[in-house]
Amino acid sequence: MSAIGSQKRLTPTRISAMKGGKPIVCLTAYTTPMARLLDEHCDLLLVGDSLGMVLYGMETTLGVTLDMMIAHGKAVMRGVNKACVVVDMPFGSYQESKEVAFRNAVRILQETGCDAVKLEGGEEMAETIAFLTKRGIPVMGHIGLMPQQVQTAGGYRSVGHSEHETSKIRRDAHAIGGSGAFAVVVEGTVEPLAREVSSAIHIPTIGIGASSACDGQVLVSDDILGLFNDFTPRFVKRYDELGKRIAAAVSAYADEVRSRKFPAAEHTFKRRS
Ligand code: KIV
Repeated sequence: MSAIGSQKRLTPTRISAMKGGKPIVCLTAYTTPMARLLDEHCDLLLVGDSLGMVLYGMETTLGVTLDMMIAHGKAVMRGVNKACVVVDMPFGSYQESKEVAFRNAVRILQETGCDAVKLEGGEEMAETIAFLTKRGIPVMGHIGLMPQQVQTAGGYRSVGHSEHETSKIRRDAHAIGGSGAFAVVVEGTVEPLAREVSSAIHIPTIGIGASSACDGQVLVSDDILGLFNDFTPRFVKRYDELGKRIAAAVSAYADEVRSRKFPAAEHTFKRRS
């Protein structure tokens, strides 16, 4: 981590202070070139474990390992000057105990140079988050739809429709709000509940499929760019169709190679006379 780079970047404390101000802009990044492109436009870059599905073709995030997250965290840090970088703790790296969570969070911070870690869970993880933050590890929470719990939740579906789910999310928001976390992702929940918890807790809520009532928004970059086409959730807005544009460019290249139009004279080395 370069000293200059780390001084210029937004810190978790500054992100926290953005509560109630201009909406916080967050996108996922998994690689150096993408981080370079996103950095100047974003306040937060999230090295999300969604990379398991987006980059590695996995069906869920459950197969993502700590080593994968560290490798991609390092790659993103090479491309960032301004944004605050948060790296996801993958499934199995923090649920067992506070001590295991601490050890793995330290590895992520030390080996990547990132600014904070994110972990999923409400009331049940509040004690762990308090343990980490009291020991110097900035943590972002993640409540509502929690992709690492897909097996027990019975699939990916929005939550907060029943009274039972609503009161669970309310309790989760208060628990994470009071745990020392500097911000919390609120995923896949109904607008009135997102609005209620955003005004009830003192840390920024970063919504994904949780309406404009949140203090900021996060989406998967590949989704908004049209690069990940396996499945597009309702809450995603496509700002481009890069997948289609890449296919057209590659098809033009293949045609030109087959017809010997490429390489042309300007792409060919001549002997110096
Ligand atoms: O893994 C991820 O990319 C995430 C966000 C989309 C919130 O957790």
